[in-house]
Amino acid sequence: MTQQQWTAVDEYLSGVLVGEDAALSAALATSKAAGLPEIAVAPNQGKLLHLLAVTAGARRILEVGSLGGYSAIWLGRALPAGGRLVSLEINPAHAAVARANLHEAGLEKVAEVRTGRAADSLAELVDDGAEPFDLVFIDADKPSNPEYFRWALKLTHPGSLIVIDNVVRGGAVADGQSTDPSVRGVREMHELIAAEPRVTATAVQTVGVKGYDGFTLVRVIG
Ligand code: SAH
Ligand code: DHB
Ligand code: MG
Repeated sequence: MTQQQWTAVDEYLSGVLVGEDAALSAALATSKAAGLPEIAVAPNQGKLLHLLAVTAGARRILEVGSLGGYSAIWLGRALPAGGRLVSLEINPAHAAVARANLHEAGLEKVAEVRTGRAADSLAELVDDGAEPFDLVFIDADKPSNPEYFRWALKLTHPGSLIVIDNVVRGGAVADGQSTDPSVRGVREMHELIAAEPRVTATAVQTVGVKGYDGFTLVRVIG
């Protein structure tokens, strides 16, 4: 199997089932025009996040890593009336693009992009006694995944879902000797999850336009 085949199949699947609309396409176009890296979730992955959020009945969603707001639009659209999305982004230029794209998608009243180091924003949410989130999507700097998982546990409730992107990275995650800080971050996060009695989890490998990668899914149970 080759990247070319994975891309062709993703284009087929997204074409037949996902139906990306103008706001989502525009979010990718304006992100690219602004020079943001092209690392948003794929359309079929965005729709997966959307379906998970709808199925979980999520009313409050937290995202770590906004980029240009592409995944935030998918997640924000899953919210019922009165729902809320908080997305954290360190890069003010990315945050500005994300805010504009969320506005363009009609989500400006629902979604908020907070600029700053995610670790600081997460601590602030805890300090402020933020109402727990029903779904957390972790998709920022991978070396900090263990820290983000710990914060996510503090900011969720039994029944919440935590989703972590990019946990396979071309298969490198299987290498226990890896010195790559992203691989080490993902592996350390998995060890935390495995040792944590308050959660139950799995992870799945994916192939597609974004290459060979995967998601970890964590249900908070107590
Ligand atoms: N979720 C987005 C993609 C996010 S890419 C989507 O699928 O559409 C990762 C983002 O995390 C980048 O915009 C990067 O600037 C941001 N990031 C990196 N380190 C961060 C940190 N310490 N705190 C908050 N955001 C960070
Ligand atoms: C990278 C980051 C992501 O969140 C992603 O989905 C793909 C790639 C990266 O930093 O290379
Ligand atoms: Mg990602």
